Amino acid sequence: MTTRVLFVCLGNICRSPTAEGVFTQLAKGHDIEVDSAGTANWHIGNPPDSRATAEAASKGYDLSNLRARQVKPSDFNVFDYIIAMDRSNLSNLQNLAPANPRARLALLLDYAPDVPLREVPDPYYEDNFPEVLRMIEQASRGLLNAILAK
Ligand code: 4NP
Repeated sequence: MTTRVLFVCLGNICRSPTAEGVFTQLAKGHDIEVDSAGTANWHIGNPPDSRATAEAASKGYDLSNLRARQVKPSDFNVFDYIIAMDRSNLSNLQNLAPANPRARLALLLDYAPDVPLREVPDPYYEDNFPEVLRMIEQASRGLLNAILAK
């Protein structure tokens, strides 16, 4: 059965599209569908931030065809995993979620116990795209292992 994974951040132009690109590549060959969305509506229809696209491209991930969208109520019953980048995203998701959603809600770094952070910092302001990409790659391996172990 197909496992559906949605990555969520605030703007859907930095962290969650990076996670979508990384996880899509990692999950190739498995029955897994990947998407990303933002809790905010500011960047709907826009491609990822050029700094995120460039950093991802330098490691072989193609974000160029991604376009931002906002989280919608149906996502909670379409996806099996909705993975938030930080606690603010998670709390916004918990407020939007219907009762008894299909989706399991979690923080991305829950799947990277060796990373000494629990939240993926926002590179839009911090300009730390290489560090953010590394932690997303590490957590993506943990997430894939968790899905395959089910
Ligand atoms: P993201 O980063 O949530 O990782 O996509 C941000 C992008 C845009 C803004 C904030 C965070 N913004 O304020 O426009």
